[in-house]
Amino acid sequence: MIKVAPSILSADFANLQRDVQMAEQAGADMLHIDVMDGQFVPNLSFGMSTVADLRPVTSLPLDCHLMIVEPERFVERFAKAGADLIGIHVESTQHVYHALQLIKEAGVKAEIVINPGTPLSMITEVLPLVDQVLVMTVNPGFGGQHFLPAMVDKISRLAEIKREKGYHFDIEVDGGINAKTVKACYDAGATVAVAGSYVYDSPEPAARIQDLKVATN
Ligand code: DX5
Ligand code: ZN
Repeated sequence: MIKVAPSILSADFANLQRDVQMAEQAGADMLHIDVMDGQFVPNLSFGMSTVADLRPVTSLPLDCHLMIVEPERFVERFAKAGADLIGIHVESTQHVYHALQLIKEAGVKAEIVINPGTPLSMITEVLPLVDQVLVMTVNPGFGGQHFLPAMVDKISRLAEIKREKGYHFDIEVDGGINAKTVKACYDAGATVAVAGSYVYDSPEPAARIQDLKVATN
């Protein structure tokens, strides 16, 4: 069964506490927080203060997906705010290895994120460092986009490297995830699924979290 990380990008920002606690009660495994700077991606969203404010209202691990230029500038502040995992894009800094080291030194789980158009060979050198790899299944920046089916093969190839080398990182997928696409990702080797609009744009968000689990059971 896949672990589910609802993305609050599609939640009601005026009722974040309610929407987060709903996810926790519905059996979510972690909470996905999309941080955007309007430069790495053409959109703006949350910052450290949102993480700090959510920390006391949920016991779910906070999975912070940084879509920002040179994320190493903010690692320490996200860690202090209460992030349990910090994900940085391989495309977002010249110093990916160092940025991942900073995350680990801050006592937080480290994640490398890879865009749809970026080859897996770009992340092979940092795989021994990471706790999780996020394979983007849409171009980052917005919720509610269509899943890119070509990413299923990329997930399989990553899962193969993981097996071959004996790595233990989780493989997370993000973008266009619903009960159908989650099954394809899970079968290819994904262990964590982010879901934004599928959960929060539904009149029955709690049922949708369960649907993702049932689809991969
Ligand atoms: C996109 C974000 C996603 C987004 C996913 O840049 O990284 O986490 O919230 O939204 P859905 O599930 O609607 O595709
Ligand atoms: Zn995300």
